[in-house]
This record gives sequence, C-alpha cells and structure tokens, in this order.
Amino acid sequence: MEDRELFQKAQSVLKNAYVPFSGFRVGAALLTAEGKVFTGVNVENSSYGGTICAERTACVKAISEGAADFVTIAIAAEQGCAFPCGICRQFLYEFAPALRVIVGEDEEHLKEYTLQELLPEGFRI
Ligand code: THU
Repeated sequence: MEDRELFQKAQSVLKNAYVPFSGFRVGAALLTAEGKVFTGVNVENSSYGGTICAERTACVKAISEGAADFVTIAIAAEQGCAFPCGICRQFLYEFAPALRVIVGEDEEHLKEYTLQELLPEGFRI
C-alpha cells in the first residue's frame, strides 16, 4: 500500500478521536506485511495520565487481533504534523524496530523516517 493511502486512512479516523481535554485529534494507521491495516485514535481520560495516543491504540488493536510484522505507521493530526511521542516510540520499538514512520501536515507533504532514527538505542530486554 502506498504511503499516501495509509496516511489517508489515518486521517479518516480523526473524527473518532476522544479529545475533550486537549482538543488535539490524532489518527494512526499501522500496516502489516500481510497488507492489513489497523487504525487508532487518541483516547483521553479525566485522569490525564490514562490517556492513550493514537499510535498505541493502533498497535494494541493489532497485537490483540494476532497481527505482527509491522511495516509502516502513518500518523495524521487535525492540525500540523504530529511526530510520535517518546512513549509511543518505545512502545512500537518493542514490536518493530525497523518500522517506517510517515508523518506530514497533509498527504502532499509526507516525510518518512525509520523508528530507529527517531529512537536511537531503543530499549529491548
Ligand atoms: N498524541 C497522540 O495521540 N499521538 C502523538 O504522537 C502525540 C500526542 C495525543 C495525546 C493527547 O491526547 C493529545 O495528543 C495531546 O497531547
């Protein structure tokens, strides 16, 4: 699947983000080697620390459905370009250190990174 299409899938779930506290909507779409896509949004909580980012929502959905072998994640925000936070970088690193990470303000201006670039020397046991 093209990066552009994956990014559009991330954009398509922005409407589902639960963001009563920040108002900052984020969507993610995680592609597996099999070609399956798992989307996720950020889900905030009154106990702020309980908030889950879009990237982790997508990853947890995938793992709990038995999917693995993640190839690419695309991340879309309602405003601007959202890079994965530190916790999400480490969370994704557990499953796919070589993951491709696609971010951008819109589908015409996508930027590509690897997770290893974004999280050098990530932690693994
Ligand atoms: N957020 C994400 O979902 N992903 C990111 O990569 C950055 C931050 C969420 C968490 C919170 O709901 C909101 O954006 C503002 O920090």
